[in-house]
Amino acid sequence: MTTEELSENYWNSFYAERDQIWSGRPNVVLVDEVSDLTPGRALDLGCGEGADAIWLAQQGWAVTAVDISSVALERAAQHGRDAGVEDRIEWQQHELGESFPEGSFDLVSVQFLHSKTELPRDAILRSAAGVLAPHGVLLIEGHMGFPPGEHNPHPDIHFPTPDEVIESLDLADGEWETLVSRVHDRAQVMRDGEQINRRDCTVKLRRR
Ligand SMILES: C[S@@+](CC[C@H](N)C(=O)[O-])C[C@H]1O[C@@H](n2cnc3c(N)ncnc32)[C@H](O)[C@@H]1O
Repeated sequence: MTTEELSENYWNSFYAERDQIWSGRPNVVLVDEVSDLTPGRALDLGCGEGADAIWLAQQGWAVTAVDISSVALERAAQHGRDAGVEDRIEWQQHELGESFPEGSFDLVSVQFLHSKTELPRDAILRSAAGVLAPHGVLLIEGHMGFPPGEHNPHPDIHFPTPDEVIESLDLADGEWETLVSRVHDRAQVMRDGEQINRRDCTVKLRRR
């Protein structure tokens, strides 16, 4: 099996375990950081079950939403139809280390693109920066560690700091403005109602 097939199988099994994995609500940082932007073309990388893409479409964005998992994408497309925004979202399946959506975008959102399978995250984030139109915004949200009590901590996974994320993007001098670069704590309510603390990292950049 190729690395791509291994990753796709991993994520399809992950999503197939339950009818719904995520909350169905858009990520808080996306809502906070994007609400005041003028809608245009948005790209959501690692869109999962589609809550962010649907929220963006409801705000007036024309959205391209990408995931490696066909199970997640089918579910996301159904949610999009249920929300009546199917004409504003194009769902695309990519293993983002291998292929990338075409076009240029006014917003690229990358929310928790982490994987226990092989994931060339730095290269994917550089591609994300590369498809931004002038004045476009790149929003990257990531975890700073595994959740407390995680059963299978993966020793090879590194959770980068905001500075490391920005450095890994290898951006041309003077072409980008850093709007947000911060580490923050967030309460996350788990499926069983338990509340845990997560430390996350936000990077928001604008192309000049
Ligand atoms: C932790 S989940 C986050 C999902 C969603 N962004 C959210 O915040 O709820 C990571 C997502 O990235 C996707 N993913 C992982 N590796 C990928 C890859 N190489 N190419 C595209 N998507 C990938 C997974 O299928 C999964 O939906």
